[in-house]
Amino acid sequence: MRMRRKKHGAERIAACSEILIENPSVPAVSPQVYFQTEKPICLEIGCGKGDFAVGMSSKHPESNWIAMERVPDVACLALEKAMNHKDERPDNLRFLIGDARNLSEWFLPHSVDAIYLNFSDPWPKKGYAKRRLTHEGFLELYRSVLREGGMLYLKTDNEGLFDFSLEQFAVCGLEIVWQSRDLHASEKAADNVMTEYERNFSSKGQVIFSAWVKF
Ligand SMILES: C[S@@+](CC[C@H](N)C(=O)[O-])C[C@H]1O[C@@H](n2cnc3c(N)ncnc32)[C@H](O)[C@@H]1O
Repeated sequence: MRMRRKKHGAERIAACSEILIENPSVPAVSPQVYFQTEKPICLEIGCGKGDFAVGMSSKHPESNWIAMERVPDVACLALEKAMNHKDERPDNLRFLIGDARNLSEWFLPHSVDAIYLNFSDPWPKKGYAKRRLTHEGFLELYRSVLREGGMLYLKTDNEGLFDFSLEQFAVCGLEIVWQSRDLHASEKAADNVMTEYERNFSSKGQVIFSAWVKF
């Protein structure tokens, strides 16, 4: 996500420090340490402006949510959205500004219950396949931090990325427990929390692809 540099970005991020995982612990720890109450950990990678993480953490208080975003100016908007969402600060939502490549440096093996990838950058050029967040290199990284039986939830508008992801799931021997080439027309539509990209794409008539994968 490209974005013009935010004025006072660092100060604005600092003002949200109570819901930000600043300097995530190295060596790795259980992500439970960032919450007051132990609950299943759901991790969104590439949260963008935060609609999904704010919506899901509010809808699912039975889980702890971590929203990761590598671009600080984008994370700033997500943080401010979460801070202003309700009168009370969400106690089951934390943000981490960083790159998913470093996941295993921060989180202990098998300490995460579910990973969400929403409208990840498709990197359409063949030479950039390794950058796709569903490339087998990333899937093996997710395998190391997810508990056995943990889930990956994928949504995308990009059919090329979707087909590539299905191939990569097969390469890694992962079980696809559910998939749809039109999420919004499926039985899962009623429970779906939309992201910014999703709202934008679907308002233009674009179908949304989705897969649920078990590790
Ligand atoms: C196309 S945007 C989608 C944003 C949001 N999920 C949505 O659906 O509206 C993808 C986001 O993922 C972030 N991202 C891409 N690769 C990442 C990585 N390796 N680690 C963390 N964030 C990443 C980008 O900075 C960008 O904000």
